[in-house]
Amino acid sequence: MTQNFPTLKNDRLLKAIRFEPVDTTPVWMMRQAGRYLPEYKATRAEAGDFLSLCKDTDRATEVTLQPFRRFDLDAAILFSDILTVPDALGLGLYFETGEGPKFKKTVRTLADVQALPKVNMATELDYVMKAVTSIRHALGGQAPLFGFSGSAWTLATYMVEGGSSKEFRHTKAMMYSDPQTLHLLLDKLADAVIDYLIAQIEAGADLVQVFDSWGGALAHRQFVEFSSNYNKKVVAGVKAKYPNVPVVVFTKGGGLWLDVQAQNGADMLGLDWTMSLQTARQVLKDNQKQVALQGNLDPATLYASPGDIRKHTHLMLSDAYALGDKTGYVANLGHGIQQWVNPDHAKAFIDAVHEFQL
Ligand code: CP3
Repeated sequence: MTQNFPTLKNDRLLKAIRFEPVDTTPVWMMRQAGRYLPEYKATRAEAGDFLSLCKDTDRATEVTLQPFRRFDLDAAILFSDILTVPDALGLGLYFETGEGPKFKKTVRTLADVQALPKVNMATELDYVMKAVTSIRHALGGQAPLFGFSGSAWTLATYMVEGGSSKEFRHTKAMMYSDPQTLHLLLDKLADAVIDYLIAQIEAGADLVQVFDSWGGALAHRQFVEFSSNYNKKVVAGVKAKYPNVPVVVFTKGGGLWLDVQAQNGADMLGLDWTMSLQTARQVLKDNQKQVALQGNLDPATLYASPGDIRKHTHLMLSDAYALGDKTGYVANLGHGIQQWVNPDHAKAFIDAVHEFQL
């Protein structure tokens, strides 16, 4: 599988994940390619709509690289979506303008789960793999490339609800009234996620991130049983084939369960803004786990003035390094950048991270 990829010139992020010394803190932003950039909106308009943009190799490559022309980023992330997997499972993904994602079909009964096809993620999602390979070449070694997937639990919520949700009524009803059916669905999804991430690594991703965006909606025991256990399975599945490729797990609202998450085998855990990085590092130390951390500036901080963004960012970095380790940390927002943010404010955040003296 030699694809003659350009040599990586900036491996700061990979070093931080391995707890090796870094010259400065690596930084990137979740959703860094997106609607807050006018150039993204222009390229999306050329493609027609969001899904066509994901399927257009050249334009998906272009939007991934757009933030690099403005900011000094230490990682790129594949331009795609977590919902490509349920789409490949036959649910029929579509986006209504102004609304979130929707599916033509839902999965709510044992028969629905049993009817889900076993798909070959590498061939069925060929457009994703083509984008990964194209982006890796186009980056020219400027920064490592993240592949990604949704977690089994987060994907299940979209598939059972048929789209976005606040209460997760149908998914939680299934969880409490018919847990075996939900487990069967999660198990199938975890297998699909493993195949999907492995295919992305083979197409050129340097590392991968699992987005467990809705793990935080669960109660403690249910988080362990229905979310974290499947993240653990996914990490183990990827590591069985590619032990040296870093795997990152980001559970929004997951800080509360950092001790549980520390057992999931990930090299790095993402945090949202609700937890101090100093506390998070302490929890990992208390559990004798050397796991790197990523995060966790409140994305709304980018509505402050550039001077105040710098102050908040430096406070976050002071927390991250308070216990003495000067590595094992990647700066990021605590969730995706919002569409109303001024790109100059995103630049203030990224520059403030690099300015900070370790
Ligand atoms: O981070 C990046 O720059 C890479 C691209 C990326 C997108 N979606 C592009 C996108 C990534 C990593 C995702 C992940 C994703 N998608 C998640 C997990 C991360 C998170 O935010 O918790 C989730 C839950 C989704 C599902 C999804 N896709 C939703 C709920 C929406 C609508 C959101 C909205 O703000 O309208 C999408 C659409 C989507 N995915 C957009 C982008 C840039 C906006 C589409 C557009 O251009 O109109």
